Amino acid sequence: MRKPIIAGNWKMNTRLDEAVALVKAMLPELNRLDTVERVLCPPFISLTATKELIKGSSVKLGAQNMYFKDKGAYTGEISPPMLSDLCDFVILGHSERRQLFGETDDMVNSKVKAAYEFGLKPILCVGESLADNETNRTEAIVASQIRAALSGVAATDQLVVAYEPIWAIGTGKAATGKQASATISLIRSTIAQLWGESPSQAIRILYGGSVTGDNIAEFISEPEIDGALVGGASLKADDFASIVRQTASIKSAS
Ligand code: 13P
Repeated sequence: MRKPIIAGNWKMNTRLDEAVALVKAMLPELNRLDTVERVLCPPFISLTATKELIKGSSVKLGAQNMYFKDKGAYTGEISPPMLSDLCDFVILGHSERRQLFGETDDMVNSKVKAAYEFGLKPILCVGESLADNETNRTEAIVASQIRAALSGVAATDQLVVAYEPIWAIGTGKAATGKQASATISLIRSTIAQLWGESPSQAIRILYGGSVTGDNIAEFISEPEIDGALVGGASLKADDFASIVRQTASIKSAS
């Protein structure tokens, strides 16, 4: 059985005081829902304060990005050892990083390797653009992103993959549960080709893109979908708690 995960990617939102207020608002409810792995990914500057607030709780902390070098003259970057004391998870290869900041498959591959070297669990994001989706290239794009990101990486169950179709991110136009499940099956079989069938069954694969309390049930009811990477709705304490609550109840019944 794969433990479901709901991760909140706050992106470039919340000042420090707002982050603290948001964690305080959601924590009591999140603490009650420990059959789901709950991960908060606030901006870098709020990681330390969030870590303090979740001390003694089973809620986990994740970063939204990192560089792959461990130190040096890389102005503005954050390194794996800076995060390894603070975080369990790190989001890598988010489409916003790929599209807006020029991250290539090679860089994502270096970051995945660096994460493992420093004991961080990657939440590896893949997903196709609208144009690729409309020209039936989803499978080819997503499989090639997975192969590139995992090139030279040994099989591990410490990987989380998030399938986030770019056209569904922040648009209010989520994929359907069936669409997401089909692509997630393809991702799992691509990992099976690289690592073997049994390791591929241990990997948790999430859906992301306009997930809310109103549509989470559709995704989480699919046996192939192990959780969600939530953007906008993770900034609302009630909505995020509702997503986790529904995930706990649907996955425990299946
Ligand atoms: P939204 O939930 O705001 O669509 O964002 C999804 C996402 O990109 C999470 O990483």
